[in-house]
Amino acid sequence: MSEPQLHIYPDNPAVAKAFAAYLAEKIAAAKGHFHLALSGGSTPKLLFSILAEQYADKIDWSKLCLYWGDERMVAHDDPESNYGEAKSLLLDHIDIPGSNIHPVPTGIEVEQAAKAYSMVIKHSLDTDGSRPVFDLVMLGMGGDGHTASIFPHQMELLTDQEVCGVATHPESGQKRVSLNGPVINAAKEVCFLVTGAGKTDKVAQILGKEAGYEKYPAAHIEIKKGTIHWFLDEAAAGKLAN
Ligand code: 6PG
Repeated sequence: MSEPQLHIYPDNPAVAKAFAAYLAEKIAAAKGHFHLALSGGSTPKLLFSILAEQYADKIDWSKLCLYWGDERMVAHDDPESNYGEAKSLLLDHIDIPGSNIHPVPTGIEVEQAAKAYSMVIKHSLDTDGSRPVFDLVMLGMGGDGHTASIFPHQMELLTDQEVCGVATHPESGQKRVSLNGPVINAAKEVCFLVTGAGKTDKVAQILGKEAGYEKYPAAHIEIKKGTIHWFLDEAAAGKLAN
């Protein structure tokens, strides 16, 4: 497993701009469909806007197949919905076939949704012999070191052999569907997008493998065959040893 590749930019807009260009190149280079799992939360919002405004006619969107690395069990038009966020900022502004978009079904019980989404992913992606393989999984990281919706109190999701698991937000108790650790780690590539001063300490602790780093789910994302990229702004990278 190779060392993580760091891409550090002055601020969140620069991170979003750089990752948009990076993603456009990846999709262009793909021979067939490019299977991408999107992260949620606030960090990718600017990326979605840049892709909609500057890449609408620069990317062959018919090559892109979209999934979500995690989703809150709310209606798709709820402000909390990761799919709803991507739809309003990006999907409604690009020419991507509806059949290429695979939102998590949130109108059913969360256990059923996790099972159903696992089936969608297994039927849509090639496998490495045992697990479906994403071309790229985008991940964010919370201030508590969670990633996707794998929180520190649910480390078992890092090794759960199902494609997707049922997660619970530690504060709100909100139910979520999340990709489990093994399928994230089976991806050809993982890109973390982490910005802001609120993430500085965890980024340094995890990337520096400092004492206690193993407590954080983001520290357990280690893809065997590919490279993990960290797209960071200077604030989030502020305590990284040079
Ligand atoms: C989610 C995410 C989650 C997110 C981090 C960072 O659904 O919330 O997928 O893992 O990436 O919590 O969130 P921010 O980008 O809002 O800091």
